Amino acid sequence: MKKRILDVLTLLGKESDRQRSSKSRVLLDREMLAITPDTGIFFSILLKAIRASRVLEIGTSSGYSTLWFADALLSTAGNRRRPSIVTIESNPSKVSWAEENFKKAGVRNITTIMEGKAVDILRELRRTANRFDFVFIDADKENILKYFDLTLPMVRTGGIITADNMLLPVHFRPHMNKYASHVRRKASVQSVTVPIGMGEEISLKLG
Ligand SMILES: C[S@@+](CC[C@H](N)C(=O)[O-])C[C@H]1O[C@@H](n2cnc3c(N)ncnc32)[C@H](O)[C@@H]1O
Repeated sequence: MKKRILDVLTLLGKESDRQRSSKSRVLLDREMLAITPDTGIFFSILLKAIRASRVLEIGTSSGYSTLWFADALLSTAGNRRRPSIVTIESNPSKVSWAEENFKKAGVRNITTIMEGKAVDILRELRRTANRFDFVFIDADKENILKYFDLTLPMVRTGGIITADNMLLPVHFRPHMNKYASHVRRKASVQSVTVPIGMGEEISLKLG
C-alpha cells in the first residue's frame, strides 16, 4: 500500500474506532460512518481482480472508503486506463474534510468529489455517458433502489455494484431486504450478500 495513503487511512481508522466505541454523540459533520478495514481489503481485492480503473461512490463522508479504492486502482498492475474515482457527497463540511484527506494522501488528482444530492448527480452523470467498473452505494437508504437503477446502465459488463449495511445496523434491514429482492429480480445481474463488515451486497453485471 502507498505510504501516504496508509498514513491517512491509519489516522482515519483510529478516529472511526474511537467514534464507534464512544458513548457521547459525534458532531454530524464529523461522523465518519466508515466501512470496516476488512471491508476495505475485500473491496481492494475485488477492484484488482476485475482490473478496475473507474470507480463511482455514493456517500463520501471523510473519504475513508475512497482511499481504499484509490490505493487499489493505483496498485493494479497493467491498468491501461488512467485511474479515476467520482464520489458523491451532499454535506459541504464532509466534502471539505474528504478533500483535505485526499490532498494529504496524494490522490487529489484521481478523485472528483461531486457535491449535492446523489439522485440529481447520478442523473447528470447518466446524461454525460459516464462508464464505471465498480460502484459503491453507501448513502441514505431511502433512495437505494434508485441508486441501483441509475447506476446499472453506467456499469460495464463484468463490472460490480456493491452496497453497504446489508446486515447492520439492524434498523436498515427493511430497506436492505427490499434492495436484495430488487437486485435479484434483474436477469442481467448475479448478486450475493457477503457477511463482512456491515454486510456487503455484491452484484455482478452479466453480459
Ligand atoms: C455511511 S456515510 C459514507 C461512508 C464512506 N463511504 C466510508 O465508508 O468512509 C454516508 C454519507 O452519505 C452522505 N449522504 C447521505 N444522503 C445523501 C444523499 N442523498 N446524497 C449525497 N450524499 C448523501 C452523508 O452525508 C454521509 O457522509
